[in-house]
Order: sequence, then structure tokens, then C-alpha cells
Amino acid sequence: MPNQSSLLSERHSPRAVLVTGGAGFIGSNFLLRMVPRYPDVSFVNLDALTYAGNPMNLEALESAPNYTFVHGDIADAALVQSLFATHRFTTVVHFAAESHVDRSIMAPLSFVHTNTVGTVVLLEAARQAWRGDASYTGDYRFFHVSTDEVFGSLGDDGLFDETTPYDPRSPYSASKAASDHFVRAYYHTYGLPMVLSNCSNNYGPYQFPEKLIPLVIQNAINGEPVPVYGEGTNVRDWLHVHDHCDAIDQLLRYGQTGETYLISGAAERRNIDLVRLLLDLVDDALGRPARTSQALITFVKDRPGHDFRYAIDATKLRDELGWTPTYDLTEGLRATVRWYLDHSDWLAAVRDASYLEYYKQQYVHR
Ligand code: NAD
Ligand code: TYD
Repeated sequence: MPNQSSLLSERHSPRAVLVTGGAGFIGSNFLLRMVPRYPDVSFVNLDALTYAGNPMNLEALESAPNYTFVHGDIADAALVQSLFATHRFTTVVHFAAESHVDRSIMAPLSFVHTNTVGTVVLLEAARQAWRGDASYTGDYRFFHVSTDEVFGSLGDDGLFDETTPYDPRSPYSASKAASDHFVRAYYHTYGLPMVLSNCSNNYGPYQFPEKLIPLVIQNAINGEPVPVYGEGTNVRDWLHVHDHCDAIDQLLRYGQTGETYLISGAAERRNIDLVRLLLDLVDDALGRPARTSQALITFVKDRPGHDFRYAIDATKLRDELGWTPTYDLTEGLRATVRWYLDHSDWLAAVRDASYLEYYKQQYVHR
């Protein structure tokens, strides 16, 4: 239920949910929370298992009767349509994406394939299924998970809100912006019932160590250099992935059809300050003398077109649903450091890609 301050009644009751990209960072956290929380709802996870998708994340769900894994590409229209026909989805929660800005600078086309084309394939399959089958009850929802990066870059002041014009500046954010436009176009043109969220940078368990926070933790544990782009003055707003997943759960049920909501962790930090804090937390957790790892900080060449600052005004989400983040950043980071220390096997497997071998042994098409 939403917080008591909310006066909303439930708008959507998921029964059969297609989760895309559920083997990635946010998708696996979402499934690990929602599959046990809603035993009467069936969840199908469609994931291509790119380098970022890791079936080890979902071991805890292997025997869950309301969970099914399907290995495949969201841009494979025949596969997606057949899944709609078989599982009669009432709901799509769409996480699947190429998600790393630096990779998008090196190889943009895979971002267009998955983030833009893949999203349109899903929208089209949902439109065909939900419009074409009279036995559906009409209670459907397409939930699109997007990013605040579509709004471009802020200066020292100001915040993004739901009215901020789009101004994507990396191939990643351009491909996500395009997907957002298609989701809204399907709502306005075909009446496809959608809700869209744009959120700030996530952190927490199961994040692939190419992103800043797990990269810093991993390198600090190993005593390796910690690369900080430019001067480290760029600012990000950090959202714990559990808070993000719970916000999606609420918005999926109580958000208004056709609307966009911004989700914020309300925790802005300059990169250099975040890195310094993380290094202290790793030293503390390992019992090292204070400030040992600060020497690992290495300022490196800046990312091309590096967005300076992202920050979100999440008033709409708070006012309509009563939702605010629960994690304090320092405590969230401390718990995240602990998680990576306690899951050295996961980190090692990701580093040497042996989880792909694991996949071959454990997961065949179900
Ligand atoms: P991730 O890179 O960790 O995981 C992406 C998942 O999608 C992987 O499991 C991968 O195998 C899968 N995938 C990739 N291409 C696919 C395809 N063609 N077909 C099927 N599956 C495919 O990403 P994440 O960090 O979990 O992000 C999830 C969503 O949240 C993305 O849409 C991203 O844009 C958005 N988002 C992320 C953040 C963040 O800080 N991580 C912030 C804002 C928004
Ligand atoms: P990242 O985790 O890649 O997320 P995004 O680019 O989507 O915000 O990067 C977060 C911030 O950290 C961003 O300003 C770039 C910076 N950064 C570094 O300084 N060093 C690194 O090694 C990485 C990966 C990122």
C-alpha cells in the first residue's frame, strides 16, 4: 500500500508480469523483492544475458513456482509475441537496456538496437496482445524504466522535474530518450496504458563493477587504482536500488496511466566526495588504518561530453503517492561495501566471466 498520506486507490493489479532485463542489476533486485512479495502473481524474466546479465543473481528464485526465466532478445519480435500469447501478460516492467555511458561512446549501435528498437518491439507486442484479445479484462500496464540522463546536464543550480525538456547528450541517453518518446507515442496514439519513470543513479547489490560505486569498492578491496574522471567535480544524485524497486512497485499499482514520475535518492554528491567516502568505508570494513585507500585515487582523462550534474525534484511522486527514499546515503554505501565483501565469489565470477559457464550448466530454456 502507498504511504498513509496518499489518497489513491489501486489503479492496476498485476497478474502476469513480463520483466525484461531481470538478470541485470536493477531487474534482479526487483525480482528478488517482488517474486516472494506477490506469490499470486506470475513473473517471466526475458533477458539476453549480455555481459551485464547474470543468472547467479537469481539463484534464490530457482524453485519459486511463480517465476520463469526465458533467455532471449527483447528485439526478437517473434519471440516476444509468442511470450505474450503463452503467458497472457497483464503487465510489462521494462528494465532491459544497454546501460553504460562509456560503452555507448565506444559502440552506440547496440544501444539503438536494445534501448530503442527493443522497446518498440515490446510496445508493439503489448499493443497487439492487449487490443486483440477480447478475453483480457482491460487492466494492463506497460511500465517503462528510464533515466534522468535524458534531460541532459545541469549547472550548479536547478533540478530536473517532469516538465524539463529532453536534451540527451550521450548515445546512451539519446537511445533512452528515443525509447521514452515511443512509450508516450503509444499512449497518445493507441491508448496503450503506460507509466514512465526517470530515476537518478542507482547503487546497491549486484551492480556490475564497471559503474562508479562497485568499481571503487572492487578496486579498493584489491588495492588497485581508483579512476576519477576529470577533476571529480561532476555531481550525481544517488538512489539505493531497493528504494528504486519499491518506488516502481508503488507506481506500477498506484501511478496514473499516461504519466511520468521522477524518482530521486535525494543524495547529491560530487564524485570525488563520494569516492573519498567509499574508500574510507572500505578501509573501515576491512580493519585497515584510516585513510589507507585514499592514495588509490587516480585522476584520469575526462569522459567525452561528460554531463556535469544530475539532480531531481521528486515532489510529484511524494505528493501523489507519499513516497520518499528510506536509505541514508552513508548507511546505504556501508551496507553495499559489506555486500561486496560478503560476495567475493560473485565479484570474482563477474571479473573472470565464469558466470557464463555457470549459465551454460544451469540454465537451459524452460
Ligand atoms: P544492467 O546493464 O545492469 O542490466 C541490463 C540487463 O538487460 C542485463 O541483464 C542484460 O542482459 C539485459 N539486456 C541487455 N540487452 C538486452 C536485450 N536486447 N534483450 C534482453 N535483455 C537484454 O542495467 P541496470 O543498471 O539494471 O538498468 C536497468 C534499467 O534502468 C535500464 O533501462 C537503465 O536505463 C535504467 N536506469 C539505470 C540506472 C542505474 O543507475 N543503473 C539509473 C537510471 C535508469
Ligand atoms: P557511472 O557509474 O558510469 O554512471 P553515469 O555515467 O550513468 O552517471 O558514473 C558515475 C559518475 O562517475 C560519472 O560522473 C562518471 C564518473 N566516473 C568516474 O569518475 N570514474 C569511473 O571509473 C567511472 C566508471 C565513472
